[in-house]
Amino acid sequence: MNLEPLFVQTFHSASTVHASSPGRVNLIGEHTDYNEGLVLPTPIPQRCEMLFAARADDRVEIYSVQMQTQAGYALGAESAGQTWLDYAQAITQELARAGHALRGFNAVVSSDVPLGSGLSSSASFLVTVAKGLRELFNLEITDVAVAQLAQAAENGLVGARVGLMDQMACSLGKAGEALLIDFRTLEYRSIRLPETMELVIVHSGLTHSLAGHESGTRNYKTRRLECERACALLGVKSLRDLELSDLERVAALPAPFAGRARHVITENARVLETVAALEAGDLQRVGELFYASHASMSADYDVSEPEIDLIVQIARRTVGIYGARLTGGGFGGSVVMIADRGAGRIAGEAVMLEYTAQTGQSPRLLSPAV
Ligand code: GLA
Repeated sequence: MNLEPLFVQTFHSASTVHASSPGRVNLIGEHTDYNEGLVLPTPIPQRCEMLFAARADDRVEIYSVQMQTQAGYALGAESAGQTWLDYAQAITQELARAGHALRGFNAVVSSDVPLGSGLSSSASFLVTVAKGLRELFNLEITDVAVAQLAQAAENGLVGARVGLMDQMACSLGKAGEALLIDFRTLEYRSIRLPETMELVIVHSGLTHSLAGHESGTRNYKTRRLECERACALLGVKSLRDLELSDLERVAALPAPFAGRARHVITENARVLETVAALEAGDLQRVGELFYASHASMSADYDVSEPEIDLIVQIARRTVGIYGARLTGGGFGGSVVMIADRGAGRIAGEAVMLEYTAQTGQSPRLLSPAV
């Protein structure tokens, strides 16, 4: 999408910087990032795009294509208002905290990463703002630091206590590759995805929120606290300190802590197995690991929903699909599946047809892209 005509129409001058970041789908390694564990995200075709130009004063003015509205604030006066503008405010606040000199700017933003879909609409927006401002004001920030800044922004003014996976994936991810990240050391390496494989991503139609403002215990924030409690009960600093050989000890914990810890420990092992299977081009094995990961997220970690479980169940009996699992934080969102290259669209559409017939939901096929 060419945003320049809109930028000129809105701000009566040309833009000087273009920045962009993809959304991400996590292939496997869920709820492991904040437990110092392993993850394997890859970019999706949908992205956030922005144009920027500096202003002479300290105002920030942003026009959002999706919201069809312009909103603004003064640098130094950032305050949460529970709107999309909080994400920009959070970034400028963190940049200032880190000692970077900013001026005001105008921007236009457009994103086709669906909100609340488990595909990092927030992180892609945050990373795009940070990369745009880096270029606009010649700031010395590495791509990893961009990710860390975006996480600080989300943890800070936005108020969602998320881990660092999404921001790393959006800042560093490359199409056709997955990023194996170890959150104990922040070491990462690219894993080339097999040419024979196609990712199928279906948005269930159920959206979620990570901020944890909802009541009850079925939310992201509570899962993090449960992991911390499990660590305290087990006498470890992080769940990463535990291995498959510790599962017997873990099983002795009271509910729900046994399940939460078991998910994280087994999921870390599945990430490494998935990397090996991808490198060997063994889609059958990758698929088995996807199903195992989903079962663990649903039963042990309790972040799935009946509708999402149904999509995975339908995928199991759909010809051409090797494996399927809930991706992202959960409580709604999307399912990622694996198919042979060229077979993904038909298989994905078959799954959606049956899912819609059984639930009346409105799913969307997000990948393969149209
Ligand atoms: C969300 C968070 C990530 C990660 C995932 C679950 O996407 O933003 O940090 O915890 O959930 O794997």
